[in-house]
Amino acid sequence: MKTTFSLQKRLGLGLTLGMTLLWLVATVGTWRGVRHELNEAFDSALEETAQRILPLAVLEISNREHPGETQQIATLKMHKEYLSYLVRDAGGKVLMQSHDANPKVFSKHPIEGFSTTGKYRLYGASALRETVFIEVAEPLRHRRGAARKALFALLWPLLVLIPISLLGTWLLVRMSLGSVLAYRYAVEARGVGDLSPIKVSRLPAEINPLADAVNRLLERLRKALEAERSFTANSAHELRTPLAATLAQVQRLYQEAPEGPLRLRAKKIESALRELARLSEKLMQLAKAEGGGLLSQAPQDLVSLLAHVVDEWRHNSTRQIVLQLPAQAHVYSTVDPDAFGILLRNLIENALKYGAMDQPIEVTLTDQALLRVINAGPVVPVAILQHLTERFVRGQSESSGSGLGLAIVKTIVQGINGRIELLSPAKDRQEGFEVRVWLPLATVAG
Ligand SMILES: Nc1ncnc2c1ncn2[C@@H]1O[C@H](COP(=O)(O)OP(=O)(O)O)[C@@H](O)[C@H]1O
Ligand SMILES: [Mg+2]
Repeated sequence: MKTTFSLQKRLGLGLTLGMTLLWLVATVGTWRGVRHELNEAFDSALEETAQRILPLAVLEISNREHPGETQQIATLKMHKEYLSYLVRDAGGKVLMQSHDANPKVFSKHPIEGFSTTGKYRLYGASALRETVFIEVAEPLRHRRGAARKALFALLWPLLVLIPISLLGTWLLVRMSLGSVLAYRYAVEARGVGDLSPIKVSRLPAEINPLADAVNRLLERLRKALEAERSFTANSAHELRTPLAATLAQVQRLYQEAPEGPLRLRAKKIESALRELARLSEKLMQLAKAEGGGLLSQAPQDLVSLLAHVVDEWRHNSTRQIVLQLPAQAHVYSTVDPDAFGILLRNLIENALKYGAMDQPIEVTLTDQALLRVINAGPVVPVAILQHLTERFVRGQSESSGSGLGLAIVKTIVQGINGRIELLSPAKDRQEGFEVRVWLPLATVAG
């Protein structure tokens, strides 16, 4: 099983997640620092207030007629106090308090310096040799509120940054991978026979060596295939002359031999030699089909090519061939005329060889360049049908053959980016065999 991943997704998520984490760490650090500074500022304000009020309170208390009694400082205007204070003696007796002060907030006995309770921050100071104490209380909610605001101020940019980062990485990766995509399309657009180097400009430096390696591989592959093909073609070609010469000799031997076993043997040798000649012819055709050059520069008229080849067969064979041509006079295709000839001859040869003897074979061409060759005969089972286009594969047939005909046809069809389909029974029939080949249409100017 192969698992693939998207670079775009991975980088987008990875970078955004990383940025968010770093931002959070930085936020926590900054926030702690800010909170510390805020606490210091608030504490110093608290301390300052206590130090300011204490001398005034002492002065007032010592000027009283009854120094022991509690005095509540009236306010000019009712308001909620931000700071409240309590002035007490060493025993904890309240001497003075701000109008809103709640004694429960303070500890039983006065404490000097800073202290913190659940909801308040307190500061205590003393005067007159620790006989008068002042304590100022400040609700912690103020500090907490300030710290919370600082935290939000640090966090909210994340809400904007996360989508920007995701989108940004996505776009950037998409742009950077544009040439890689172009490379992929260039590879995919290749026909089977095209092994020339793939050229794509401005690949990223990380991918470029890969493209070079692919091109070197293609080059090696092309050379190896070429060597194999030229070997096949050359061998078949070299076999031709000696085969023809031997055949001629055997035919003479057959004619000169007296009636009897020698003559029979000569006949057998002759048919074996013919078989060999046909095989070498097929091998040459296969080498040509694999050699590329199956497309022609100029558009070819399939109608006239087809009529020509069928005429040729009509001369050679007594069997009936029914030709159906499209209404329009010409159907242009980019297929090379020789390659089309080889393809068509192999199909007609098969139809004549394996089709029912008493029935005509049909050759049809549509205006969409779909070629159909149909013959009557027994149905070929699907399991066999699937493999007939492989090399050296033959069906259940008594007659001799190499098993290369349909392989040649298939190779040509692949080389011209066409499509082939074998049907048995033939379309809309109970029996028979049909080969359909979709040929590439050519666009003709004018
Ligand atoms: N028109 C056809 N009708 C029935 N069977 C066919 C037809 N064409 C091909 N076949 C089957 O496909 C097999 C492979 O064909 P082919 O590749 O041309 O090799 P060969 O003709 O040398 O056997 C044949 O042996 C035959 O069984
Ligand atoms: Mg054949």
